[in-house]
Amino acid sequence: MNAPRPGPPRPGPPRPGPGQPGPRQPGPEQSESNQSGVDRSGVDRSGPASFAEVLRRRRMVRHYRPEPVPAETVDRIVDAGRRSPTAGFTQGVSFLVLDRPDDVAGFWSAAGDDREPDAWLAGMRTAPVLILVWTSERAYLDRYAEPDKGWTDRDPDRWAAPYWWVDAGMAAQTILLAAVDARLGGCFFGIPPEHQAAVRARFGVPEDQLSAGVISLGRPASAGVPGSPSRRRRRAFADQVRRGHW
Ligand SMILES: Cc1cc2nc3c(=O)[nH]c(=O)nc-3n(C[C@H](O)[C@H](O)[C@H](O)COP(=O)(O)O)c2cc1C
Repeated sequence: MNAPRPGPPRPGPPRPGPGQPGPRQPGPEQSESNQSGVDRSGVDRSGPASFAEVLRRRRMVRHYRPEPVPAETVDRIVDAGRRSPTAGFTQGVSFLVLDRPDDVAGFWSAAGDDREPDAWLAGMRTAPVLILVWTSERAYLDRYAEPDKGWTDRDPDRWAAPYWWVDAGMAAQTILLAAVDARLGGCFFGIPPEHQAAVRARFGVPEDQLSAGVISLGRPASAGVPGSPSRRRRRAFADQVRRGHW
């Protein structure tokens, strides 16, 4: 943590949330494997994936096969999220796993998506598992007021960035990578602010928990609604990465 200085404005929960289309057809990396573990692109997916392969295969998945994900696999994936770095080892990010069909349906209903589903929602509703990622500003202010940090004034302007949100993003990305490592897929999306109270009430989430977003999880189906990369180009390396001087 740097010396105290004014922090940026604190962001709200990520927008847009459910209902935002996110098209793209899965590439070969998301195609299904046959019994031998070799997928249609000829890549053997039976053994452990290398880190490079996990990174390459990690794409948001918006349509899932109906098979449930074993609870041990879900736990392993969420545990990877728990092991993400957290500022001051606050560990202020919490996870609510929904893996029973009535809970998953209850989420979509509380999140305001009881309506006739569009293609995005129809695909996302096929996910057998949802991992709701919550963070707590209070947990970070409490932690940094401890003697080894000493910010007893609990002034939010001290923060170089709101680490409660930073840590939630770190955890979410780790979960997405762990999902790929487990031969599954996921998609991160936000709960619209106007529906967060209903989601909290439906699942008994305490008031101080802030919704960072949700990760859908499951076995990728062979097709999905395409996402923003189908409409936008990836920025060039030289445009995004500077050396020595901006
Ligand atoms: C903070 C955040 C919010 C996102 N919200 C949504 C969303 O509401 N709906 C959706 O389909 N995808 C959402 N995405 C996924 C992005 O569209 C996706 O990561 C991006 O287009 C790059 O595609 P890729 O992850 O498949 O490489 C979100 C991603 C992030 C990091």
